[in-house]
Amino acid sequence: MSSRSVRLLLLLACAGAACSLPEGPEPLTFSGSALGTEGTLVRSQLARFEERHPGVRVELRVTPDAADQRHQLYVQWLNARVRHPDVLQLDVIWTAEFAAAGWIMSLDDALPDVGDFLPAALAAAQWNGGLYAAPWFVDVGLLYWRTDLLPEAPRSLPELGDAARHAVSTGAVPFGLVWQGARYEGLVTVFLEHLGAFGGRILAPDGRVTVDEPAAVRALTFMRDALGPRGFVPPSALTWQEEQVRFAFQNGDAMFMRNWPYAWTLLADSARSRVAGRYSIAPFPSAAGGEITAALGGAQLAVNAHSANPSLARDLVAFLTAPEQMLERARFVSQLPARQSLYEAPALADALPLPLDQVRAALAAARPRPVTPVYSELSEILQVHLHRALSGQETPATALRDAAAEIRMLLARSGLAAPGTAP
Ligand code: GLC
Repeated sequence: MSSRSVRLLLLLACAGAACSLPEGPEPLTFSGSALGTEGTLVRSQLARFEERHPGVRVELRVTPDAADQRHQLYVQWLNARVRHPDVLQLDVIWTAEFAAAGWIMSLDDALPDVGDFLPAALAAAQWNGGLYAAPWFVDVGLLYWRTDLLPEAPRSLPELGDAARHAVSTGAVPFGLVWQGARYEGLVTVFLEHLGAFGGRILAPDGRVTVDEPAAVRALTFMRDALGPRGFVPPSALTWQEEQVRFAFQNGDAMFMRNWPYAWTLLADSARSRVAGRYSIAPFPSAAGGEITAALGGAQLAVNAHSANPSLARDLVAFLTAPEQMLERARFVSQLPARQSLYEAPALADALPLPLDQVRAALAAARPRPVTPVYSELSEILQVHLHRALSGQETPATALRDAAAEIRMLLARSGLAAPGTAP
């Protein structure tokens, strides 16, 4: 049947009723980060997709950049079973939750070269043996350091502390180290890196909750002391997210900064940054008894389970996660590709402004946050108690004891507790 006869039939069916005809095909909607250069990049990639699919329009839905706020918005939309956005940018920690809730579609057989995705990113995109998202870019926590103040990156956390204290006491910089200490998801990633550095874990491989063990208490105590009177992290960091941390480092106020790869390109812009050409990166160092640990973050693309155009939505996901688009993202916004083959190809060294050897070292130390459908609740518990310990309202031991007890209860309530460990 021609589209004219379809229109005619619709007109007849509508006769007398209060309905109107759509103006052309409904656009595909994409929701994700669209600030600054990242926005320019996304828009140009979406435009390229439209060129390759004549007649298709893709609309960008801008969402808040802060992880927790975007999560809240998505939960509202998807819970209400709305058809838009068709394609969603998910934080790696949400895929299990959204898949278990039935909010995103299976992508099994929808993507070419699934085996090429980095294993840790792929694991976070799977739920119950199925694939529910496509890894888009990976984030790893990095230590940024000032090359004009220090000849080389610290090799251990105590060495970092000494160098940071020294820099503050000589007046070279007002702050030694800056990190994300606000009560939100970023704080959990900073803690995870300290935790691994001291040999601890949130959950053991068998699922037991181990976040109250001695190594974890040592890690949180180190963070709290770093904020204290003889410390080197400014107390204002307790309200800072990624961007406030970047501003402090970019203004030349800190010797070290813990942040994600995206900061590299912005710090290099000498029109805005006072440290352009005077910084480098290294993996966040470890302490005795622990190992170098980089929180694994990043974004994945998923298709709304109620999308009216699932096949086109899947095509958009495949397009945006293809090597060409990933390389372009590495070049313009210094975000790391999620495909293994790109790390073996010379094109990445040319495209990525960050030193590739340090990126590889951080990726080798990358550790995911627990992959569970109740991750958001688990994280919320940690955020509350970590923040109380850091702001001096609870001791690190009490904070972690209470957090662990609440997490055990959460897992038991959700039927996800490790066998024999229900509280
Ligand atoms: C970055 C990471 C993400 C993490 C968030 C925390 O966006 O990619 O995984 O949850 O920061 O603030």
